[in-house]
Amino acid sequence: MRRVGLVTSGGDAPGMNTAIRAVVRSADAEGVAVFGFEDGYSGLIEGRGREIAARDVGDVVHRGGTMLRTARCPEMATPSGQAKAVEALNRVGADGLVVIGGDGSLKGAHALAAHGVPVAGIPASIDNDIWGTQMSLGVDSALNTIMEAIDKLRDTASSHKRAFLIETMGRDSGYLTAMAGVICGAELVVVPEHEVSLVEVGEIVESAHERGKPHCFVIVAEGASRNVDEICEHLTVHGIGYEARVTKLGHVQRGGSPSAFDRLLASRMGARATSELLSGRVDFMIGLDGAELQPVDLADVCARTAQSGVRFMELTRMLAR
Ligand code: ADP
Ligand code: F6P
Repeated sequence: MRRVGLVTSGGDAPGMNTAIRAVVRSADAEGVAVFGFEDGYSGLIEGRGREIAARDVGDVVHRGGTMLRTARCPEMATPSGQAKAVEALNRVGADGLVVIGGDGSLKGAHALAAHGVPVAGIPASIDNDIWGTQMSLGVDSALNTIMEAIDKLRDTASSHKRAFLIETMGRDSGYLTAMAGVICGAELVVVPEHEVSLVEVGEIVESAHERGKPHCFVIVAEGASRNVDEICEHLTVHGIGYEARVTKLGHVQRGGSPSAFDRLLASRMGARATSELLSGRVDFMIGLDGAELQPVDLADVCARTAQSGVRFMELTRMLAR
């Protein structure tokens, strides 16, 4: 291979820039050029981008977001969009493509592999819902952001004896929420994978009050069947002891400097994806399995959904005594 394409797609995640740097520099070490497409698959379909040299990725190892920018691009899910992407790759002379993104983006990569494009995937999504890797890029950074925010809310909650209903990201995945429950000492987490009634939430919060807790945290994923506002209203109307307040953490969870864990993972995954691609492997993603990286087939990644962190829900409840 003389030149490979590179694209970041879907929701941005801390660590994407670190992975871009690793791909560019490890390709450079092998004398291979990298063409970076801008704005996710939209830029790929239009053949829009620029060559990125080793010096162009200076000073990005620690930056959040993505220097190539990202986008959602419904056209990429259509046969004509994919045909345009293949044409664009040929036009810019890219013999392969590295895709850094979430489960949707990896489906796009797998679709291009079906058109004969050698593709490598790097999992990046704060949702941690990608099958085939224990951790995706951005998850650890997002959890650290959530933890810092909830530690701050704890000061106010304890000072005022309040219950806080905190909304975390996760349209379909409760991973961040379930993990935040454990690491932030929540009373309860509410996730998309599990139904819970307002009455149950009310009883759990009331019981915390009766046990003399000076604060109470309920962490709720944005995609859960009960949202923070309706839970707050229920608690307020039924007078469960605490005054209740809502905090929606929103997109602050996706931004910021990648954590040490994410920088290391991104650097390792970027280098490994590149070396596997250059040695002829196709249609794969680099996954983390224990301490080791391993290539997994994109066909499997696209056909399955990751285990969410719901097994940690019980731990949150047990430790909240
Ligand atoms: P993420 O990659 O973060 O999960 P999305 O699910 O929004 O984000 O997917 C990002 C992009 O990947 C979509 O805008 C689309 O361009 C592409 N994509 C998603 N699903 C498919 C699919 N089934 N086939 C081809 N491309 C897809
Ligand atoms: O990056 C994943 C995610 O954060 C989901 O949890 C969330 O539902 C979605 O992205 C929201 O993204 P956007 O606001 O960019 O559509």
